[in-house]
Amino acid sequence: MRRPFIAGNWKMHGSRTENAELIEGLLLGMPAEASVEVAVCPPFVYLWEAARLLKSSSIALGAQSTCAEAVGAFTGEVSAAMLKDVGCQYVIVGHSERRALYKEDDALVARKFLAARAQDLTPILCVGETLEEREQGLTDQVVSRQLNAVLDVAGVAAMGTAVIAYEPVWAIGTGKNATPQQAQEVHAHIRAEVGARDANIAAGVRILYGGSVKAANAREIFSMPDVDGGLIGGASLAADEFLKICAAAP
Ligand code: G3P
Repeated sequence: MRRPFIAGNWKMHGSRTENAELIEGLLLGMPAEASVEVAVCPPFVYLWEAARLLKSSSIALGAQSTCAEAVGAFTGEVSAAMLKDVGCQYVIVGHSERRALYKEDDALVARKFLAARAQDLTPILCVGETLEEREQGLTDQVVSRQLNAVLDVAGVAAMGTAVIAYEPVWAIGTGKNATPQQAQEVHAHIRAEVGARDANIAAGVRILYGGSVKAANAREIFSMPDVDGGLIGGASLAADEFLKICAAAP
């Protein structure tokens, strides 16, 4: 009932040449009738060209984070309407790199989530704890706080057209992925948290796992009942590896 979803978060990587090669590789290797939904999220400056290269393909386009609520005199910002205008369907919000490095707090993440939805973009809402928080037994609490900050503002119905990504900070770019059981535990907690507000929405919302997913561990992680796919960083930058991850989705 939940279609598996794999999204590649390219972060601040790529060039026009590299992106063209990567997209060409993905288009060549992606099966025509894939049961999995796939998206790539290049840096802003490359979105328009990526949209052109992906045109008429089954691969969707997403943006990374910045998704200002308004239009106007906001130097350096990009609006949700602009993302929509260049062909984005998804936007990542609340990524831990934005939270940690650019001081985006729960309230700002919630506003970005709303801005995305107002333009019919599907937000991919990232939540996840640091290693310290996990070691202190605070994982569920942190994830609930991040999730509820959005649910309180947007309402649970908004989660019906959103995607959640659980990304433990300690697993991002470290090569140390959460075990399938660790991922499942937190995914189940996230689903229960949404379910406390609306059981149907909770049953339908897709929850992706992100953090050192690669072809070698994808199948095992994706086999967990509450894991509906992945948000892939480093391993989304090589077509072969990303295609193998997509093929590992249930
Ligand atoms: O958003 C994807 C992410 O943060 C995971 O990155 O490189 O560990 O797959 P990576």
